[in-house]
Amino acid sequence: MSETVKATGARQSDLGLSRAEIDLLSSQVTSLVNEYFAAVSDLPVFPQTFGGPTIAHLESRLPVAGEPLEKLLTDCREIIKGIRHNGHPRQFGYVASPATPPGAFADLIASALNVNVTAWRSAPAATEIERTVVRWLGSMIGYSEKAHGLLTSGGSMANLIAMHIAHRAKTKDDISRQGLWNCGPPMTIYASDQVHMSIQKAADILGIGRNRVRTIESDARFQLNVRALREQVQEDLRIGLKPFCVVASAGTVNTGALDPLNEISDLAAEFDLWFHIDGAYGAPAALDERKRSLFAGLNRADSVSLDAHKWLYVPIDAGCLLFRDQAAARQAFASEEADYIKVLEQPDTDEAFAFWDYGIELSRRFRALKIWLTFRYYGLTRIAAAISEDNSLAAYLGQCVEEADDFELLAPVELSICCFRYLPKGSKTKLSSASAGERAGIDEELDALNTRLMLAVQRGGQAYLSNATLRGRFALRACITNFRTTAADIDKTLEIIREAARQAKG
Ligand SMILES: Cc1ncc(COP(=O)(O)O)c(C=O)c1O
Repeated sequence: MSETVKATGARQSDLGLSRAEIDLLSSQVTSLVNEYFAAVSDLPVFPQTFGGPTIAHLESRLPVAGEPLEKLLTDCREIIKGIRHNGHPRQFGYVASPATPPGAFADLIASALNVNVTAWRSAPAATEIERTVVRWLGSMIGYSEKAHGLLTSGGSMANLIAMHIAHRAKTKDDISRQGLWNCGPPMTIYASDQVHMSIQKAADILGIGRNRVRTIESDARFQLNVRALREQVQEDLRIGLKPFCVVASAGTVNTGALDPLNEISDLAAEFDLWFHIDGAYGAPAALDERKRSLFAGLNRADSVSLDAHKWLYVPIDAGCLLFRDQAAARQAFASEEADYIKVLEQPDTDEAFAFWDYGIELSRRFRALKIWLTFRYYGLTRIAAAISEDNSLAAYLGQCVEEADDFELLAPVELSICCFRYLPKGSKTKLSSASAGERAGIDEELDALNTRLMLAVQRGGQAYLSNATLRGRFALRACITNFRTTAADIDKTLEIIREAARQAKG
């Protein structure tokens, strides 16, 4: 193209499409999406593929010229064949839920608007929707109707932001300017040994150090042992460390256990610790009336993480950090250094509000729209019913496992996670009469067998389980956060495991 631009009013390089082209594109793309929603229950949960060949047949050269839409959609269908389907009713691995159609289409709207939710001045309505959604989430889980906070990429990011706010709130040193190495005694975080790895990662990133996360051995129900917590805090004070934060889990990633929130809150108050609750997976279960009492004390936290993309069935990415003290969060993140972010509105007005003062990201997607639309489309009652049914299905799985001769439950089912293992014929009797030494040998064999079974089930494509290590033992782990799962899927999954065991034996 010539260097000189002629004042013709027309561009030579317009990437815009005509209305007819947009109509064609959108109708074909939505029919692909609709087809997917209709078919997801019948697809293999995991593809019959290995690293490399998964997309080897797709074009991998950098495309210089544009290609026909038809070809691109054919390739998108190939990609669909190469993924694990989190929406499949027998996908029980990790914490992965299906996206609701309203949430998925909301993401399309958000991308089309391409609004950058940095601050009110860049995105007035989107900023206000996000602040509204944050309040909804806070009141929905019984935290606070006046909660402040922000949406994040996920629970790990929410936990990182929380640890940063806590760290800065609990020191008088100017770490922000002086750097950590010029300030006071080493600061310590406390959590149970079941805490999600994102807390250690946050401690690492923030320069606190992974070893400064004191993991307290959990009790028989995988809950934080408050007596042991107290002893560790006292010991650390005695040797000159500075305890500053305790993290409780409201739904651990391994078993779904909830720590005793009220007791931990009392201890946090006594030792002036920031009280953070990681509810990335479990917090939405507060919507299930039958589980509400487990969340007693949640309203006393300084901050709470939760993921709408886990158990509120909203498409990834939809994490959230809630906090009570907006000034503490602002103090941790606000920067005076860049002129281009100076807000020239009256301070403390809604117009002056900027998310960059409360978190890490500057450019931010309009994440709130998919939560807002999902909630408004279904209403909370319907979403709560889906969560409650997930809990009932996990309890049903736990009951089936307990009643069977060839399975053993390895952890209490608190919410929607069930951890168990397969036992070959005769193992139950052998285990019950074995000495400690014999038991260790049997356990090792069972670990190896159950590892093989999990891989066989995953590769078989009919169901997908992940694993947890509980008291050193390998557990098959099923997490049910899926509005498509039924009791028949639970029955079938147990049969799939039994069949894998027969194959392993044969
Ligand atoms: C309890 C808990 N915390 C934090 C996380 C991290 O969340 P994300 O994957 O959204 O970063 C998870 C993920 O499973 C989790 O279960």
